[in-house]
Amino acid sequence: MDLFNDLADFSPEQIEELLTLARRLDEQPEPRALQGKVLALLFLSPSLRTLASFQAAMVRLGGGAFVISPDMSIHGLETRPGIVMDGAAAEHIREAVPVIASYGDAIGIRAFAERRNLDHDVADREFAEFRKLVNKPMINMESAINHPCQSLADWKTMDDLGMPRNGGRFVLSWAYHPKALPLAVPSAAVHMACMRGMDVTVLRPEGFELPEPIMAKAHDAANASGGSLRESDDRREAMEGAHVIYAKSWSSTRHYGDRIADEKLRRDLVDWCVDEPWFDNAADDCRFMHCLPVRRGVVVADRILDGPRSVVIQEARNRMLGQMAVLHRMLGRA
Ligand code: CP
Repeated sequence: MDLFNDLADFSPEQIEELLTLARRLDEQPEPRALQGKVLALLFLSPSLRTLASFQAAMVRLGGGAFVISPDMSIHGLETRPGIVMDGAAAEHIREAVPVIASYGDAIGIRAFAERRNLDHDVADREFAEFRKLVNKPMINMESAINHPCQSLADWKTMDDLGMPRNGGRFVLSWAYHPKALPLAVPSAAVHMACMRGMDVTVLRPEGFELPEPIMAKAHDAANASGGSLRESDDRREAMEGAHVIYAKSWSSTRHYGDRIADEKLRRDLVDWCVDEPWFDNAADDCRFMHCLPVRRGVVVADRILDGPRSVVIQEARNRMLGQMAVLHRMLGRA
């Protein structure tokens, strides 16, 4: 494997193999599997889980990792193409990325969306440009439109819980947040659940529809797996018999790139905070999932996050295990 960028690049059977490996590495550690290997990690935006879990994964497999981020003592990084660099930034990403990659055996890059132009972000153009700069194995640690490591962990979490595949009901719900957030996690989550064969409902207020190409891709995955996909703005109807609700906030796609219009639209949606009444007609043991970080009392009520429905800590731990499997395949002996 020389690129881990999108679960859609793999068959469901290949994902199963990765998850089997993740479980094996958890139960039967291989502390020398990646001895002498180095993973370069470039973070162009903040992180807790991704930052920690990739380093922990490399150490557990006997390798090492180093981290570069703009808030470290590095030269100011310019990311805009074709710019005359007569401002504060002293180094361009076009040199920085291949230099950082040259110190490692593989590189992981996190780069959030610009959130100015929907087509640009949906096409994931920035990540594609990074790929051209690197001649080593590469991992998407979250880009404008994808978060494959999160999705791999989420798939494993549902398997661990014995959550049904075909016939399993998965609700991806928009939730209130004061800021317009990227589309990466909801886009990755909807595709993952469709690929896993679940009956998926995207529950969102009007103006927050997921982009058409993302829905079309997820529909294809559902058709191939025997799952299904629909959208709704009716909470009660969407939650009927749900086995899992995956909450996440994202930007208004109607007003993408227009902060003022987005704010106006979301202002009246503060009641999109997941709480116990949401589960009235769900399956009895319906679970709550979220990629974290999460704002308590804004996205979800404390009693849900602290109660038996929540599996957010398991999801976060599965980040490390899933990534160990990816790194083992990418850098281990064949
Ligand atoms: N879920 C996730 O990617 O968390 P971080 O932003 O903390 O890495």
